[in-house]
Amino acid sequence: MLLLAFVFLSFLTNTSHLVSAEGNGYAREACRVTRYPDLCVHSLSSFSNIAGRSPSKWARAGVSVTIGEVKSVQAYLKRYRRVRGRNRVALSDCIENFADALDELHRSLGVLRKLSKSTFGTQMGDLNTWISAAFTDAGSCLDGFEGQKGRQIKLLQNRVRNASYITSNALALVNKLAATGSESISDP
Ligand SMILES: *[C@@H]1O[C@H](CO)[C@@H](O)[C@H](O)[C@H]1NC(C)=O
Repeated sequence: MLLLAFVFLSFLTNTSHLVSAEGNGYAREACRVTRYPDLCVHSLSSFSNIAGRSPSKWARAGVSVTIGEVKSVQAYLKRYRRVRGRNRVALSDCIENFADALDELHRSLGVLRKLSKSTFGTQMGDLNTWISAAFTDAGSCLDGFEGQKGRQIKLLQNRVRNASYITSNALALVNKLAATGSESISDP
């Protein structure tokens, strides 16, 4: 009886292991088109079972995660501005850039929620424009701190860079959707 329970238990553990390995496999597969695949898999693996092999779901997941990260970096920048007198101008520019990026990403998510075969081309064009702009916004934020020293600034640069990498990944996932074509979406 005990042996049976043990066999059953190890069967359970093995299956759940298989499932999660397969789930991550979907993320790995989807993330192949991105420039930062490890970061992509790390940030998107929880979507594996929902998104499977659907390019539109991966694009949506990519933009959602980017919104979360951009929001979190924006909050960090605001806290930082309050405690630091230095770099006020660069920080204010950054916060403004991140607000713009957030706006562009929200608009993108809105489009991804209403994909349609008849306007697919226009939608893909808009997505590319807006997410590219968000990526540029994060990049010019980094430029404002270029060449500066200090642990805090390094941390800040890392976080902003991370957000720009995640945005780049989202753009790649959207471009993959565009390349796959409107046949990949289920809407009429
Ligand atoms: C980068 O973003 C990912 C996804 O949101 C997050 O898990 C990770 O902690 C971030 N890393 C840094 C250095 O901010």
